[in-house]
Amino acid sequence: MEFRIASVVLLGLSLSACNPAPQQNVKSEHQAGDSAAVASATTEMLAGKDYHSFANPEQLKVKHLDLDLDVNFATQVISGDASIQFERVEPKASTLVLDTRDLTIERVTAMGKDIPFSLAAADPHLGAALKIEVPADIDVVTVTYHTSPDASGVQWLTPEQTAGKQHPFLFTQAQAIHARSFIPLQDSPQVRMTYQATIRTPADLLAVMSASNDPDTERDGEYHFSMPQPIPSYLIALAVGDLAFKPMGKRTGVYAEPAMLDAAAKEFEDTEAMLEVTEKKFGQYRWDRYDLLILPPSFPFGGMENPRLSFITPTVIAGDKSLVSLIAHELAHSWSGNTVTNATWRDLWLNEGFTTYLTYRIMEMIYGPEREQMEFVLGQQSLEADLASLPAQDQLLAIDLRGRDPDAVFSDIPYEKGALFARELEQKVGRDAFDQFLMGYFEHFAFESITTDQFVAYLNDTLLKTHGDKLDAKRIQQWIFEPGVPQGAPMAHSDAFTKVDAARDNWLSGELPADKIDTQDWNTHQWLHFLNNMPESLSAQQMAELDKAFNLTQAGNNEIAHSWLLMAVNNWYEPAFGRLHDYLLHIGRNKLVKPLYQALSKTEQGKAFGKQAFEQAKSGYHPLTVKANEGYFN
Ligand code: BES
Ligand code: ZN
Repeated sequence: MEFRIASVVLLGLSLSACNPAPQQNVKSEHQAGDSAAVASATTEMLAGKDYHSFANPEQLKVKHLDLDLDVNFATQVISGDASIQFERVEPKASTLVLDTRDLTIERVTAMGKDIPFSLAAADPHLGAALKIEVPADIDVVTVTYHTSPDASGVQWLTPEQTAGKQHPFLFTQAQAIHARSFIPLQDSPQVRMTYQATIRTPADLLAVMSASNDPDTERDGEYHFSMPQPIPSYLIALAVGDLAFKPMGKRTGVYAEPAMLDAAAKEFEDTEAMLEVTEKKFGQYRWDRYDLLILPPSFPFGGMENPRLSFITPTVIAGDKSLVSLIAHELAHSWSGNTVTNATWRDLWLNEGFTTYLTYRIMEMIYGPEREQMEFVLGQQSLEADLASLPAQDQLLAIDLRGRDPDAVFSDIPYEKGALFARELEQKVGRDAFDQFLMGYFEHFAFESITTDQFVAYLNDTLLKTHGDKLDAKRIQQWIFEPGVPQGAPMAHSDAFTKVDAARDNWLSGELPADKIDTQDWNTHQWLHFLNNMPESLSAQQMAELDKAFNLTQAGNNEIAHSWLLMAVNNWYEPAFGRLHDYLLHIGRNKLVKPLYQALSKTEQGKAFGKQAFEQAKSGYHPLTVKANEGYFN
């Protein structure tokens, strides 16, 4: 990867308000000479430089990884060898720099002989650089190491935290920069490697990875994996537990604890159809099988697109497929994210924005336009809420993350603003032309990691050339490099929500009692729309009336329960607090618990309740969920 100073064109952007870093405001030659093209607009930041890795792929670039690891539940330690094969980009370079976090490095060898290494002092966000002096004739080194029980990318669960209550469980979560806490490697999304692994576990448990998994493998405590396509480190994943497998379709199946298996396979039975329609529209599925792994409820995300094996929260198993857009999303990453990957975390919107756009398209193809419209409205509302609360510099698609922890800058911007941008392009050039563009894009950059600037250059060479009359280069610039959403962007609308709005209005005005609202045929999305758009404050009587009419405190759907519990906190509706406590103790998905803790932290009595619940729940939360919420109660 060649690093260069990106040109700077900041159109109408209030610099002082937007960016703490010093800026220049110079028109690039490119822009000056060709007003029809979109220029790359950044700060003096080095385009393509990964500010979240110490590794030196521009000199020595890792190509293949061979893991030989023992998983020890008693000590909560993963230990063994990582053999790292690299290529000399700079022929004279002799120091291989790897990322680590809280790893103990026992020795580094090449051809069986110890070679010198040093571990630098740790940076609080980034961990510690491991510098290995490699002899000139060597291109494979073996690092013998073990992890810390506190590894930020690993969660060790006790049997009580699992569905079956009999066996312990382990899972890793590497995105964004946590792979380094369980493997020493070049932990940057612009480094792609193939990998192989041998994993040893207690004999009664099964290990699965983001690689080839053999559903019929003998359960003997030694498992072998191979990932033949080059992937970035954040897609390396491992889980170990009492897992069983059930096929859903020819290429799709589910791994879950036995108690969850049938419910999961039923809930997600449309996965094979999703795979087929996506392939048809956007190009071949390049990863052979697509399986799901259902994790225990402490999994900190909704889902994670680990290749061949997406990791999925059990909180979306609602019984009626109402939350399966999560599966469409993780599947869509097989194209945008896993096949074409963001080169740095600044470029995350390339992964998440196009994936969110594809998610809407998949939902429309499988469940029809009405459902897609409802999900689009809910997505847009959630984006608007984020735009109202985020500082301007965090509203850019291509965000400046220098000096920041990517985990701390998580928002709807790369997702919903990114998807809205894609939707606008689609509407301007027409669906067929845009689909063709996307298919070409996935093909052109397959198995590459690209920057926002590379995307912009590709757009200039393709859609801007063929459909220049319908696209406005300045506006595209504005979408990517300026805060907010441009005026006139696509607007979501759902007829199915119109009657929900009317019901809410009539209830609020006192015309219609809650138990007279005709909610018989309302689906989950309509309930979410009903609740999420209530005024900020309701009276105790109003809360009680809703609860009595609809039994919301006992809502079985975790998203509906979340919306209701948030209202309960904001209105201090105590009858719901038993459920709230239970919810916070049993769910560790950050998106569902964080807004509740945040709302609780706003009042003294809320703080006391939240602190108590958090202290009690903490030992069962994933390190990321702990980190994201502990600040509310310190
Ligand atoms: N890749 C993300 C999760 C992620 C993003 C982890 C950035 C760490 C850093 C995953 O695909 C995702 O977006 N999950 C969402 C799904 C939702 C938008 C459907 C989630 O977990 O909520
Ligand atoms: Zn995603």
